[in-house]
Parts: sequence; C-alpha cells; structure tokens
Amino acid sequence: PASDPGLVERARKAKEALGDRLFVLGHHYQRDEVIQFADVTGDSFKLAQQAAARPEAEFIVFCGVHFMAESADILTGDAQKVILPDLAAGCSMADMATYDQVEECWEALEDAGLAESVVPVTYMNSSADIKAFCGRNGGAVCTSSNARRALDWAFEQGEKVLFLPDQHLGRNTAVLEMGMTLEDCVVWNPHRPNGGLTQEELERAKMILWRGHCSVHGRFTAESVDDVRARIPGVNVLVHPECRHEVVLKADHIGSTEHIIKTLQAAPSGSSWAVGTELNLVKRLAQMFPDKNISFLDRTVCYCSTMNRIDLPHLVWALESLVLGEVVNQITVDDDTTHWAKVALDRMLALP
Ligand code: 13P
Ligand code: SF4
Repeated sequence: PASDPGLVERARKAKEALGDRLFVLGHHYQRDEVIQFADVTGDSFKLAQQAAARPEAEFIVFCGVHFMAESADILTGDAQKVILPDLAAGCSMADMATYDQVEECWEALEDAGLAESVVPVTYMNSSADIKAFCGRNGGAVCTSSNARRALDWAFEQGEKVLFLPDQHLGRNTAVLEMGMTLEDCVVWNPHRPNGGLTQEELERAKMILWRGHCSVHGRFTAESVDDVRARIPGVNVLVHPECRHEVVLKADHIGSTEHIIKTLQAAPSGSSWAVGTELNLVKRLAQMFPDKNISFLDRTVCYCSTMNRIDLPHLVWALESLVLGEVVNQITVDDDTTHWAKVALDRMLALP
C-alpha cells in the first residue's frame, strides 16, 4: 500500500485542505513516500530550529521519532499541536537512558563529591525528562552538528561532562575534535553499581560517557570500512558520528546528516562514496546525485526500524483525521518538564 497512488493522492488532498493550518517537518531518515510531503526537511538541529518557524500553523505533523516531536512541542506555544503519525516511532538510543537511572548516576556523583564539577550534556536523542534534568542541573542539549560547541561551552561551566546517552558521539567529539585522549573518557554503565566505575576512575575522567548507542550506526564496523575500500578503489568513506570510534577513525569524513548531504552535493562528478548512516537517506542521496558513485557502507546494516514506522498509511490517517477535526497522536510534554527542557534546548540554540 505504501506506493499506492491512491494514498499519495489522499495525502496531497488532505494537505491542500489543511493549507496554512498545517506544517509538516521531516527528518532525513524518513521514507521517500513520506518525505515528499514535508514542508521542511533537516537534521535534528535544523528541525528543532524550524519547529517554531510557523507560529500560525495550528498543527505540526512531525515525520521523525518521538524525542523530535517532544522537542517540537517544547519549543512551540500551547496553541500549536504536535502530531507523531505513529506513536511507536521511538528511538532505541533514547530509551537507553531513563530518568531514574540518570538520577541514580547523579546521586552517585554527589556521594563521590563530584557533582558540583560535572555539567550534564544530553544529545538531542533523549527523552524530554532527560533534557529537563540537564536544564535543571546547569547543562544543555546538543546535536551531532554542534556537539563540539556544546562541549566547549560545558567545559567553560565545569571541569567534567556527563554525556548522555550516546557514548560514541561523546567519545568521537572529545577525542577527534577536542584533543582529549581515550583515557580521559570513562563509560557509565547504568546496570552496574556506581556505573561500574571506581572513585579514582571518576576523579581522573573528563568525560563520563553514558553507556548508550544507536542500534543502526552501532552496526557499522572497522571491517565494513576495510571491505568497502577493497571493493571500491579510491572510495571516500563518510560516516555519522554515532558510529563506533574505530569506524570513525578509519573514515575520511564525519558529520551529521545535514553535513553528509552538503558533502555529497559538493563532491566532484565521478567520485566514489561509501556512506555510513541510515539507509533511507543513503538511497535518496544515490538517486539525487547519479553522477557520483554513492553506496551504503555495509549492506548487512538495515533501516532504522522506528524511523520507518512513519509510513504513508500512517501519514494519511493523521492528516485525514485533522481534516475531519480530530487530532490524533498528539505529543504533549508537561509544563515543568517543558520549562527545564527548554532551558537546556535554549542553551544549545544560543551557542555561537
Ligand atoms: P542528525 O539528524 O542530527 O544527524 O541525527 C541522526 C539521528 O540518528 C537522528 O535520529
Ligand atoms: Fe535512534 Fe539511531 Fe534510529 Fe536515530 S537512527 S532514531 S539514533 S535508533
């Protein structure tokens, strides 16, 4: 049914009927059948910036995952309703840090006499209550396109950073962009007492990395890079910073989804690229730039299953419900969480 021309026509008609009352945002990892209906596409930073760009729109239909829709609700006024076409579109990485686990970690850092020197920074890919935790405790949010700047800011506020929930983005940014060593980074395991760390390890660390990862990007390996280099002579390897450190070390270029698109746009005709990020985006880029040889870094890695939950039938259902006056799958964040999460998001949005 996804490619059903009837559904395409129904989505088009519903959009037309809603006119300026509707604003559709789409993350780059969304399916083609969905992204064609987005008014704005972007990486998670651009989508956070754009969320408040149409205050006159009553409905923001967010084609992405749950934490992105939550952030859009936090960044927009009460009059705007944010809708996620399928509530099952979560993010396995965001689920790896729960509020209770983070509180427990913070209490352990307090007991160790360290909390005062630690600034919590959370990747956008986290629940609203984790963002609020960071806001309440002097920290900020970052995305893959501004992690370096957010960490520079955080190290002006304190001596150590608790980086949530993606250990790879935290480690890759600290080591490859900020001159820290692997020894400066320790990993907090929420399933072990005291994170599995000794007092001495915590005292020595500059970066306390939460033990979380992306289940898609975590599948690329150093061998994926070796294999593609053996198969495609002269290939440029371009990966997202959610990939493991050993993969990023072997790559030629690293960047957020928006950066990946710009790099390929600017690449010379005839050049070869192996891209380590979500498959919907890589396929789309290969179609957009047929003069360049663009392939997927590792053919055994699959789509992000939760991004893919937003499909055309769900989009049509959400839009047609709005036309009929029924708001389905609205994402709302409570006032206190909104206040503190916004503090953390605003600190990111104010970065130079
Ligand atoms: P960016 O769009 O910020 O690069 O994030 C990638 C991602 O995994 C979103 O879920
Ligand atoms: Fe989460 Fe990874 Fe999917 Fe992004 S690609 S939504 S980080 S699981």
